[in-house]
Amino acid sequence: MAWFKRDTRRRATAATIAGAAAGVALALLGMGTFATHAAAAGSLGSAAAQSGRYFGTAVPTAKLGDPAYSTILDREFGMITPENEMKWDTTEPSRGSFNFGPADQIVSHAAAHGQKMRGHTLVWYQQLPGWVSGLSASDLQSAMDNHITQEMTHFKGKIYAWDVVNEAFADDGSGQHRSSPFQDKLGNGFIEHAFRTARSVDANAKLCYNDYNIENWTDAKTQGVYNMVKDFKSRGVPIDCVGFQSHFGAGGPPSSFQTTLSNFAALGVDVQITELDIAQAPASAYANTVNACLHVARCTGITVWGIRDSDSWRSGDNPLLFDSSGNPKPAYTSVLNALNAATGTTTGGTTDGGTTSGTTNGGTTSGTTSGTTDGGTTSGTTDGGSSTGGAGGGACTATYSTTNSWSGGYQGEVKITAGSAAISGWTVRWTLSGGQSITQVWNGTLTTSGSTTTVANASYNGSLQPAASTTFGFLANGSPSTPSLTCTGS
Ligand code: XIL
Repeated sequence: MAWFKRDTRRRATAATIAGAAAGVALALLGMGTFATHAAAAGSLGSAAAQSGRYFGTAVPTAKLGDPAYSTILDREFGMITPENEMKWDTTEPSRGSFNFGPADQIVSHAAAHGQKMRGHTLVWYQQLPGWVSGLSASDLQSAMDNHITQEMTHFKGKIYAWDVVNEAFADDGSGQHRSSPFQDKLGNGFIEHAFRTARSVDANAKLCYNDYNIENWTDAKTQGVYNMVKDFKSRGVPIDCVGFQSHFGAGGPPSSFQTTLSNFAALGVDVQITELDIAQAPASAYANTVNACLHVARCTGITVWGIRDSDSWRSGDNPLLFDSSGNPKPAYTSVLNALNAATGTTTGGTTDGGTTSGTTNGGTTSGTTSGTTDGGTTSGTTDGGSSTGGAGGGACTATYSTTNSWSGGYQGEVKITAGSAAISGWTVRWTLSGGQSITQVWNGTLTTSGSTTTVANASYNGSLQPAASTTFGFLANGSPSTPSLTCTGS
């Protein structure tokens, strides 16, 4: 096919490509036919950009040297997600030994071609090196904090959005978190902790939660993630976006997909389609998926999980927009047309349509702004099992560490570990040093009486299996000092 080799560029100039050979849809869109109309764009990236969105793809380092591949990549896509290169098994294969080389190559390619980057992913139970799951709870917490800190610091300023936590919810219809080394040892609070750590490292990158099978609104898994995001927004936990992987069967997205996107967006987060592929790539299923996003103002971009069918992790399904020879498939044309039909707006664009029909949680909102403060200000996190705060109560122990400090304030974390029996609730009490006051607590409920501070479990992290742990965090005025903690289990 001749037409895809033409330099169709990604941005608005693409519509000037007229003239050249056959090119069915593109020639039609690019010619004078629409001369007085806003010019239809000739690539996925430039078409999406017309409504303020991006169109991206997953990229493995190994393919960058394939000219047929990189030609399509640079012509069509304005956002890149490393397919595997930012995952833990590649970036920290042994503890404290970091390897950013493969991802750096992708980042360099993106910088050279004006593409943005999505960071994928910091905390995920898969593609996790064996040493991580062998750690004790306290060591795992330190390792997780360090991993997030090192990786985000290395790529700081180069990443548009991070998938901070990937696939933390179960598929079993429970709507609960799935079992994982993080969940099993750190408890429910690990997700919140990861987001707070991420914000303290990079205040500018968007912080996303990413998962699959959360596209159908009524599914328990969707509701579980929705309730987590709602809770995070209501308490100021820093979360900016939710990624819907969208690995679909041949039927494409569930009919409620737009409702789901819209309902999440109403919580005050951006939403994105992050890993789209559809078995057999029916043109209509692709168009339906793209339109669901285009109809929601805060759906800011779409990423397909690979370029050619031969690049797909589901290669037997031929689920992508280009065939194995690099020719655009019918789904490509349907996606391009859908993106072009959404033009005419320059900002986050399009309507939204307010579709909230049939929602259960309805009117939530909270309209909170993204990029909440957190207070994770300044000075590099120290963390690391500094100090212990004593124990007590018999049923649980509590240890304290300072996670951050700055002039006039600090951020502390308390880890609660159940004893040899399971507990269904906990309370940690300590006396604040003179002049100190607590300004915020997360993953716990604060009561103060004079200088006596009491933090009880939140609704979701009171139950701990024998020897299992959870954490709560707090911000305080004054200087950090190691408190003497008393933990009481119930
Ligand atoms: C996949 C990659 O495409 C494969 O190359 C790798 O072998 C396994 O992981 N959800 C995710 C992605 O978040 O990281 C996964 O990527 C696909 C499912």
